[in-house]
Amino acid sequence: MSLITMKELIKRAEEKNIAVGAFNVANMEMLIGAVTAAEKLNTPIIIQIAESRLAYSPLYMIAPMMVEAAKKASVPIAVNFDHGKTRENILKALEYGFTSVMFDGSSLSLDENIRETNAVAAVARNFGATVEAELGVLSGNEGEGDVAKSLYTKPGDAVLFADKTDIDCLAVAIGNAHGKYVKTPNLQFDILKEIHERVDLPLVLHGGTGISPEDFQKCISLGIRKINIATANFEACMTGAFNLFEGEGPRNYFTMNEAMVESVRETVENHIKIFSFM
Ligand code: 13P
Repeated sequence: MSLITMKELIKRAEEKNIAVGAFNVANMEMLIGAVTAAEKLNTPIIIQIAESRLAYSPLYMIAPMMVEAAKKASVPIAVNFDHGKTRENILKALEYGFTSVMFDGSSLSLDENIRETNAVAAVARNFGATVEAELGVLSGNEGEGDVAKSLYTKPGDAVLFADKTDIDCLAVAIGNAHGKYVKTPNLQFDILKEIHERVDLPLVLHGGTGISPEDFQKCISLGIRKINIATANFEACMTGAFNLFEGEGPRNYFTMNEAMVESVRETVENHIKIFSFM
């Protein structure tokens, strides 16, 4: 069915009043697990990798694998470059065939974020790619995240940002955070509601790992159309292997590969079901 833009998947999510899951992958096992889950549930997904992960998964190796996996899948799949910070790597991802890029200018001033986002958008448009940007600062380990610096997205800024940039969707900070939540996330639904009412753009929720099904679905009712899941996939890959080694069955590379794939598939499936109200 094939490689598709993120914009098309977000439009489909809007029509169905659901959210599309965006699953971070870092190796072949995670990729197979995510794609198999989408195929099994006959539901499109986004696969993505963050720029900060390229030290572990070099773009020249992982990018062709992701793009080919999307092309060969039996459901539509978009390939997104997550938390792009440098124009150099964003351009490379586009050249490898990613159908979407997220520019993370969240650490910049509002003016700089607008300027840099538009510079990235101008490049992405040449490739027909979708553009995601971020406003507000998320705590956690997406890069230089610092809990003390976590800032909610200001609805007024979001209105201005949406007006001044050429983007397709906007990631917001409403008490969500990357990595594992140290305590139950306290999402600011009133802020999300105001942004949704005032900004005519599909919204994106980062930091999906650890958010409850109820909160996910409430976010979807308030305009969230794309939800990012990374840490849960990394953990699933790791615990798949860990459980195998703790267990009694045969242990070799091939059983480890299957255990990782299976564990990631299960995690991705669970999230797809929540995001699609299945
Ligand atoms: P988690 O690692 O918390 O799932 O966040 C994923 C994310 O937002 C990737 O951009």
